[in-house]
Parts: sequence; structure tokens; C-alpha cells
Amino acid sequence: MFSPNAYADRRKALMSMMESDGIVVIFGNEYSPMNYEDNIYPFRQDSNFLYFAGINDAHHLMIIDLNEGNSKLFGNDRSLDHIVWMGEATSMAEKSTAINADAFADYQEGLNEIRSAAHRGIPIHYLPPYRHDRAIILADCLGKSVAEAQQGYSEELCKAVIRLRSIKSDAEIKEMEIAVNTTRDMHHAAMEALAAGQLEADTAGLVEGIAIRGQGRLAYPCIATVNGEILHNHHHHNLTQEGQLFLLDAGASSPSQYAGDITRTFPVSTKFTDFQKDIYQVVLDSQMAAIAKLRPGYRFLEAHLTSAKVIASGLKDLGLMKGNVDEAVAAGAHALFFPHGLGHMIGLDVHDMEDLNEDWVGYNDEVQRSDQFGLRSLRLGKELEAGHVLTVEPGLYFIPALIEGWAAEQKHAEFINYEAVKQHIDFGGIRIEDNIAITQNGYRILGDPIAKKIAEVEQLRQG
Ligand code: GLY
Ligand code: MN
Ligand code: MN
Repeated sequence: MFSPNAYADRRKALMSMMESDGIVVIFGNEYSPMNYEDNIYPFRQDSNFLYFAGINDAHHLMIIDLNEGNSKLFGNDRSLDHIVWMGEATSMAEKSTAINADAFADYQEGLNEIRSAAHRGIPIHYLPPYRHDRAIILADCLGKSVAEAQQGYSEELCKAVIRLRSIKSDAEIKEMEIAVNTTRDMHHAAMEALAAGQLEADTAGLVEGIAIRGQGRLAYPCIATVNGEILHNHHHHNLTQEGQLFLLDAGASSPSQYAGDITRTFPVSTKFTDFQKDIYQVVLDSQMAAIAKLRPGYRFLEAHLTSAKVIASGLKDLGLMKGNVDEAVAAGAHALFFPHGLGHMIGLDVHDMEDLNEDWVGYNDEVQRSDQFGLRSLRLGKELEAGHVLTVEPGLYFIPALIEGWAAEQKHAEFINYEAVKQHIDFGGIRIEDNIAITQNGYRILGDPIAKKIAEVEQLRQG
């Protein structure tokens, strides 16, 4: 946790940003049952609640009174029965002190205050309820249908929270480095342990264990696969074979719940083949070129396009693309190989604040999201500011269905050598991803260095 005043200062900043009156309600998460009530998924606190109220425990809520200028924490002390089964817990008095709240009370009183405010017509500002149980509780308190409760969130509150959470303090960045360094251990261990004939699940299990040993968990379900061209591949059932590439996109959350999100791609054999090296170097060059440009005032959209041009140019040198590189990228032809965005904000969430609206996080009036294939998946386009933390993760993939589909239409045929591309249709995919803080003058890659150059990766693969 951060200092008690850190939480109080965040709430004060929120109050000063809100022009409306009324109350702000920030819900914590509930336990989520896997198959019956007492058998739960690992608990994950709501990130907005963590940000403003810090308590990493189920069944709490906070009410910030914009008229009175105070904040109250609601939750229950553990009953004796719960202590028998779950042990002692921090008391509500201690929790309230730990976050410098103005008052505390039982959870049910919090719900009653929301009901009473609704009854009196006091504006109630809340964030989008991405969990159904929260939407149901809200609907009940507001006297509305669940659908109305889901849609009735406050745009003003979302935008104020985004403005606050987008700028990470030095203390937050320290927490993110803890996450990245545990993530580094995961990736290095995986590079050292992989062998042909293992299941992908061997690597998935290995890295998840390291995340838990770091007193966090995985920040998102890991991608550990020889089919790296399937962008969100969460299956781990394949046996690895010599000559294949292995893509590992895995990140730990720190004990304080900040996320790491790192991808490395390495050979199942101890060395890359020559063609794998060629493609890997193109992806690495495209990542480094984009990273080198990062600084306050620079549009991340431009970093994406820089990366795309390095990819198109590299593929042209290898005979897979052709024509004018700038024109190819403007037309979106490179998206056959790089169909996703260069990166996204990261923080308490791996895709930070995506519950609050992706476009409000990553775009603004000056920079609007494109609808072009590939570019439309870019989650962050706007100008960077000191304190932003984001990922840079270009990739190059041979997706058989996409190649066959585009080839059949001869889509962008002036820029793509389909016959040459088809010779590598079973290649798989390569992505390289790092987490980067924007500083006053430029950028800083978070954490200790993680093997990335070809020679560094091969050295770890050879033990
Ligand atoms: N691991 C999800 C992502 O890279 O965006
Ligand atoms: Mn990412
Ligand atoms: Mn990732």
C-alpha cells in the first residue's frame, strides 16, 4: 500500500476535478464463485477502488461526498464465524486509518446511503459496472433495471479518473518495476527451461508459479505457444518441436496489483534459423525505432506508424513486400503481418483503465481512432505526457487464413509478394514487448534488461 495521505490526496484531486455535485460511489469487487459459493476464483480487487481506497479485500465500497468534501469507507469487520474459517483480518478502523478516510461504517450502511441519495434525487456518480453482481447491487440501490444501471455511469467521473490514473507517481512506477522484474524472472526461466517435446503447458505452469512466488499472480492469462500467429492464444496443449518458434506473452502483477506485460519470442531449438533471425531482427528494429521516439508531446500514433514502416521496409528487403513503403503503410498493407496496435497504457490493469472506455484513455479530440484494419486495434494514439506508462509491442505474424483471404482477393497486391509470403505460411509469429515510462525528457524501459537481442536469447537457450 501507499501512504495514507497518498489515497487522501487522490480523492482530493478527484473532488477538485468534478464540477458536478452529489456523491461519487467507488465499489470494490466481491468474491467470484468458480462453481459454488465457497470455491472462488482468485480475488482481484477493482483497480479504481485500489487507486482511491487501497484496501485489497472483498465487500467494500467508498462514498466520496462532493458537497461535504469527505470520504467514507464501508465494509464489515470479520465475525467470529468468519475468523474461525478465514483467520483474523485488519479491522475497519485500521483500514480506514490506513487510507486516511474521514469515516467508516458497515457495508450495508453504504448501500443505504446510496438508496437514500437516490430517493432524494442527489446525483450519484459511478463507474461502468463491468461485473454483473455490481450492476445488480447498483440497480437495487438506484431503483432501476440492471440495464439502466449498466448504462447510467458518469462520463465526467470516468474522464476525471482517467486523467488521474494516467499519470503514474514515482511510487507507482517503483511498484511497476517490481512487477516487471518478476516478469523478467518468468521469461528468463522459460528461455532456460524450454525443450523440444515439452507441452506448451510446461512453460505456462512454470511462469505462473514464478508470478505466485513473487507474491502476485499473472496480470492476465498467459500466451505460451508455438502458434504465436494466433494473437490471443490461450491454449497450451501443443507439443513443442525442433525448429518452431515459441511466443511467451506473460506478465506478473506485483503484490500491490500493478501489472507487467512482456513478450519474448525464442526458438524451440537452441538457435534461430536464418529466416527466423531475419524476421526477428525486423521486429526488434521496429520496436527500437518506435521506443527511441518516445517523449512528452509525441503522438503514440506516430510511434505505431514508425514501427509499421520499419516492418514494411524490412519485409521489402526480404522480398515479401514491395513498392513504396510509406504508401504501403498508408494503405494498411503491412497489417497483413502486423494486424494489432503498437501498445497500450499499463498500470493497475494490463490494459489500463479499459473498463472506463478505451477511446477516452487512448484518444482525444485531436487524435481520433482510425477504422483501417490493423490501425483500428491501436488502443493509444494521443500525445504522450511525462508519467504515462505504456507497452511497445510490435509483432510480425504469418496468419494462414488472413494470407489466403487477402491473396484470393489480391488485396494490396501492389505491395505484397503473395507467392513469396505463401512459402512461409507455417512460420508462426514473433512479438517483442516492453513496458516503458515516459519521463520529462524521453523514456525509460522499466525493470532490469530482459534478454532481447538474438545473441542474448540464444545464449539463454543454450543454458
Ligand atoms: N498481454 C496482452 C497484451 O499484450 O496486450
Ligand atoms: Mn501488451
Ligand atoms: Mn502482452
